[in-house]
Amino acid sequence: MGWEDAYRKKTPLSGDLFGRSKRLHVNGVSHNIRFFEPYPFVTASSHGKSLVDVDSNSYTDYWMGHWALVLGHRHPAVEAALAAQLSRGWMYGTVNEQTIELSQMISDAVPAAERIRYTASGTEAVMYASRLARAATGRDVIAKVDGGWHGYASDMLKTVNWPFSEPESTGCIHDDRIVSIPYNDTERAVSILEGVGDRLAGIVVEPVLGGAGCIPAQADYLRGLQECARKSGALLVLDEIVTGFRFGHGCVYEEMGLDPDLLTLGKIVGGGMPLGVLCGKEEIMEIANAKAMSRKERCYIGGGTFSANPASMVAGAATLRELKESPAIYERINQMGRDARASLGRTLEGRAQVTGRGSLFMTHFTESGSVVDAAGAARCSGQSLVRYHMHIMAYDGIFILPGKLGAFSSAHTFDDVRDLAEATERFAAADTESISPASPQDARERMAREAIAKFHSL
Ligand SMILES: Cc1ncc(COP(=O)(O)O)c(C=O)c1O
Repeated sequence: MGWEDAYRKKTPLSGDLFGRSKRLHVNGVSHNIRFFEPYPFVTASSHGKSLVDVDSNSYTDYWMGHWALVLGHRHPAVEAALAAQLSRGWMYGTVNEQTIELSQMISDAVPAAERIRYTASGTEAVMYASRLARAATGRDVIAKVDGGWHGYASDMLKTVNWPFSEPESTGCIHDDRIVSIPYNDTERAVSILEGVGDRLAGIVVEPVLGGAGCIPAQADYLRGLQECARKSGALLVLDEIVTGFRFGHGCVYEEMGLDPDLLTLGKIVGGGMPLGVLCGKEEIMEIANAKAMSRKERCYIGGGTFSANPASMVAGAATLRELKESPAIYERINQMGRDARASLGRTLEGRAQVTGRGSLFMTHFTESGSVVDAAGAARCSGQSLVRYHMHIMAYDGIFILPGKLGAFSSAHTFDDVRDLAEATERFAAADTESISPASPQDARERMAREAIAKFHSL
């Protein structure tokens, strides 16, 4: 039986329920990436390293809530903090001590966070960061990286997918106020930035290109961007929404020799509850101080109705406390990531490259070349990757969101690394289809074909 039949056979209730979901929701989902063929399973509960679907199948989960759950699902400390908070109220809409506690923990671990503002999502945090960069400099152009994913705000919804030059979405205004630079190529990036001249307000970059392929930035590249920003009078905005508290207790900017003006955080610092953080240098963040600044001077950066709600605050604080008190967690999950990259790389040698850092890993099916940027990732076979992920989901109960990167949490064990490696061996032995490494043109056509096929199957 092929993987699709095996998957359909074990998920009949999910199939039925997803049919209902399609009648109610666009694409049946509330986030585009949650859809996969033939239909996504419908989750009933989660615990530790596992998701359980409505058909009672259990999956070892490497998606881990968009990589937010570094302690796994329903970690006892986070669950207890949430339960205690629920009995005291989950939505105040007023200043609360829970926020002060989480902010103290963040600012202790992240010295660049001299002032903090909370939002309900990472999207909003980056949206406000770019507004603040423009306000602080009086300039209008924001630079982002080819393939950089910073959420769905209109400003940043540019140059996400190959060929990084076409509109990502209708409904957005397309002009020259977002400029895109190559990743891990300092010379070309700097030359584009120099061309922007004194219109450059800020450079927004992730230290590990996440959604676009789990590709670590070279420290020299990031330092080159920082130098370029400093020379120009622009700001460096580091998006650590994926990397913050992922590899160690804090952010990665310090070890890379960076001194960002603004930082965005999310995911892990919310402990699995909705949260985004914009933080940074006091003199820049204070431009948002509506009391100190006149209407002409100030820059509005939100939050919103749900910002700093006490439930998100206590879930984040419980997570950061646990991580601080048990630093061995990082050693373990980073080692699991290293082991997984090594064993998958060995098994798929000649067919795939496994990228990542610490507890993050992603497989790229390519017979040649090393993947160092989003263009390289786009040239790899997305179809082979999805086939691999669906195969291990259907036969081995291992869930990596098809086509995406995986993350270890403290709920995983080294046995899971072994199971993942063995499942990958079985896939490699069974999968006879050629991966046909794509040229950029092929990659572009393949993406268009896949998008059309997906559209017609709905
Ligand atoms: C680097 C990065 N920035 C921003 C975002 C957007 O965050 P959110 O999905 O919470 O809006 C994401 C989401 O995955 C991300 O990976």
